[in-house]
Amino acid sequence: MEERSLSRVDLIVEGKAYVEGRFIECAIGIDEGIIASITKPSIAPRAEHKVIAKGNELIVPGMVDMHVHMRGLEESYKEDWLTGTMSALRGGVTFICDMPNNKPFINSISRLKMKLDEARANALVDYGFYLGFPEDLNELRQVKGLGVYGVKLYPDDYRSARLYKLLRVCAEEGLLVVFHAEDPDIVDSAMRLHKVRKVEKHHELRPEAAEHEAVRKLLLALSEVQGVRAHFTHLSLVESIRQVIYGKMQGLSVTCDTCPHYMLLDASLLTKLKGIAKVNPPLRPHSYVREVFNSVKGMIVDAISTDHAPHLLEEKLRSSYDEIPPGFPGLEVCLPLLMTLIDKGDLPLQCIDLYSKGPARILGLGKGSISIGFDGDLVIVRKEKWTIRGNELASKAKFTPFEGWELKWKVVKVLIRGVLALDEGEVKVGKGYGRLIKPLDRA
Ligand code: DOR
Ligand code: ZN
Repeated sequence: MEERSLSRVDLIVEGKAYVEGRFIECAIGIDEGIIASITKPSIAPRAEHKVIAKGNELIVPGMVDMHVHMRGLEESYKEDWLTGTMSALRGGVTFICDMPNNKPFINSISRLKMKLDEARANALVDYGFYLGFPEDLNELRQVKGLGVYGVKLYPDDYRSARLYKLLRVCAEEGLLVVFHAEDPDIVDSAMRLHKVRKVEKHHELRPEAAEHEAVRKLLLALSEVQGVRAHFTHLSLVESIRQVIYGKMQGLSVTCDTCPHYMLLDASLLTKLKGIAKVNPPLRPHSYVREVFNSVKGMIVDAISTDHAPHLLEEKLRSSYDEIPPGFPGLEVCLPLLMTLIDKGDLPLQCIDLYSKGPARILGLGKGSISIGFDGDLVIVRKEKWTIRGNELASKAKFTPFEGWELKWKVVKVLIRGVLALDEGEVKVGKGYGRLIKPLDRA
């Protein structure tokens, strides 16, 4: 426990807090939005305001979700920056990094500015962005100042003759390259093979081999470009995670994440929930899911993200396979799910880091940890039973593949930069409170 001779801070948050991998009874002093002290309660600095986490409550850092889709622009009917960030807030997430596959696709500075306007006006939590593969690679030289952490690449991008050039520019600019790892040729041929496409067969239409092959090829590309930092997001198979670890052992600067649905849900859900369970990469057969769960348990992934991908329920209930958009919301359930699994003894305590400190490190953020000098982003969770219900989500996507799951932990308070932003389900900050956090210069 660190002690400082501060006599006064703006706010004290007191209770059992997750500090350096364990829960300790302490007082966290926040001054000007930053964690200024972590002391025993008896020697805490004085403060005008105090928030106390009671007996059945715990304090954890604000979560960092490095892969979300806030939609907005022409897809505001699916989600917008207010409803999406409200979902984040209710899930104890204080920073999100938003994907570029909007309508229109965000692959230029001018389009990014359109998104930024909406985020500025509406966000309730802090945020940053990824850019799509730009037409003009030179624009990558200026985007950090606009809150861009990296470039997100989709399967079709792997066919581009400019892929290596892009990797080189990202290396020069210190931008992260984030991969959706599914090989487009393997997916295409699997799709051609299955003449009648049914949602129950989604996992066969996008086979395991597609993910492995994409990871293999991309690692090879990375080994040929000096100094590029890359991240494989939403890996759905342990073999892919192993490939990334092998890449690390070759000296590559690579990291990866998986999502709660690849840890906990299997392809049989496609028969039960049909389009609601359609997501890319797909949910896998049971034995694979167990392995992914164990990889999180063993902390061999660097992060957990939700890939919060909202669509309207009516879109997900369409009968034709090709017309069902992939993805589902995840922000409101991830932290409560993790806390419940930790409580049951199924995951170690340190898994909290995978959804906070881990992604914050990858992005280079001063968030996601209860440490001096970090942003005063804190979440109070309470041991209280509740049941996940899609129609109760703040997201415009009123469904979830976790429908009916009974959880033991609930998010009750969220502080962002020392300001109470959510209290017992009630939003306490105005829209636009969320701030654009620009990446620290690492280049
Ligand atoms: O399931 C998915 N949904 N996978 C993606 O790659 C995109 C995402 C979306 O934007 O809906
Ligand atoms: Zn996504």
